[in-house]
Amino acid sequence: MNYNEALQLLKAHSQEHVLKFYDELTEEGKKELLTQIENIDWSIFDILAKKDVLAGRGTFAPLGALEIDEIESKKAEFEAKGIEALRDEKIAAVLLAGGQGTRLGLDKPKGTLNVGVNKTLYLFEAHIKWLLSVKEKCGSYVPLYIMTSDINNKDTVDFFEEHNYFGYDKAHVKFFIQEMAPAVDFNGKIYMAEKGKLALSPNGNGGWFRSMMRAGLVDEMKEKGIEYLTAFSVDNVLQKINDPCFVGATIISGADIGAKVVKKATDREKIGVLCLEDGKPSIVEYYEITDEMANLRDEKGQLAYVFGVILNYMFKLDKLIDLMNKDMPLHIVEKKVPYIDENGEKVKPEEPNGYKFETLILDMVHLMDSCLSYEVVREKEFAPIKNMTGVDSLESARELMKLNGMEF
Ligand code: UTP
Repeated sequence: MNYNEALQLLKAHSQEHVLKFYDELTEEGKKELLTQIENIDWSIFDILAKKDVLAGRGTFAPLGALEIDEIESKKAEFEAKGIEALRDEKIAAVLLAGGQGTRLGLDKPKGTLNVGVNKTLYLFEAHIKWLLSVKEKCGSYVPLYIMTSDINNKDTVDFFEEHNYFGYDKAHVKFFIQEMAPAVDFNGKIYMAEKGKLALSPNGNGGWFRSMMRAGLVDEMKEKGIEYLTAFSVDNVLQKINDPCFVGATIISGADIGAKVVKKATDREKIGVLCLEDGKPSIVEYYEITDEMANLRDEKGQLAYVFGVILNYMFKLDKLIDLMNKDMPLHIVEKKVPYIDENGEKVKPEEPNGYKFETLILDMVHLMDSCLSYEVVREKEFAPIKNMTGVDSLESARELMKLNGMEF
């Protein structure tokens, strides 16, 4: 992108101030700033303009699940279907690894975290090991797409190279970079972190398919005959992505999306619950659940809003393509954003002074017409590492790994 193209783009969004210090930059600095402008997720501003229209929620109702007993009784049928689809390479997997992992406080990508005690086991390695076991069972590699961000892309790719992809055939692995979202002041003007640098952060885990499309990967997948995409988070060390039983059950159900769920540990657990909203699949966040919803019981006396999502989904590719014409809800978070003022002086605010924006994968569920809610055994498949200690931590994940007889 050249200067004039950038200026037009900025003008269209009333953000020309971003080029105020352009003439003071080195040639290299100018190029970098133009690249940042080119890579901004501008769709955020379009959504922001419609935010009042998009903000409201509908009427929630509980959604049951295909529960463990029933899955067990149909396992042979589900697995056979799943193995066939995986063998024919119809199911690709997308590892969402563009987050900053702020709660863990690492200065490297989260996937490079060593969860082992007596021997090394990196989070990335754990996922690859699992995918290799799927390959063993089905006879074909799962095409794996890894989403990174500008902040961690180089470290992530280097890490895979250094470890020789942990034995996975690298011809089946592709990296793509998610877009960045600028932080803005309370009037919607983009903050500059430095004279040649926007204040940017990754745009959340909801933009992954748009980023794939931008990277030209969707055409490639269609050509290869891929029909479904699974998406999963990097931080659940027990994540079983593309397991044939889940894959088969989702295909047989005919639903637009399959979602692995676990029973909530407590009625107030901080986990999004899969339910219906105005008759369509949706996820109600833990902070949106009223006491009445949290305590509601079904005819068997079980909690009605009980199945929490674990960021393990399987989407029909065609439905994801359709979704590109729809708006995603935008999550707006107040934040302290360090910036430079109009004189180019650095300011470090003590109080929140602006917003950062994210779209979230859980909102993609509501844009689908039907969803298979698929229960898995919590202790076997859900060990997210968000913090070093306490709830959802490295500590709690290690306990669960022990429980599963893993050597580490
Ligand atoms: P989280 O929402 O837990 O975010 O991500 P995080 O960045 O890992 O951690 P915190 O909140 O800063 O402590 C869930 C999954 O979504 C991915 C993460 O890498 C993780 O696999 N993610 C999140 C992205 O790929 N991009 C994003 O912009 C945000």
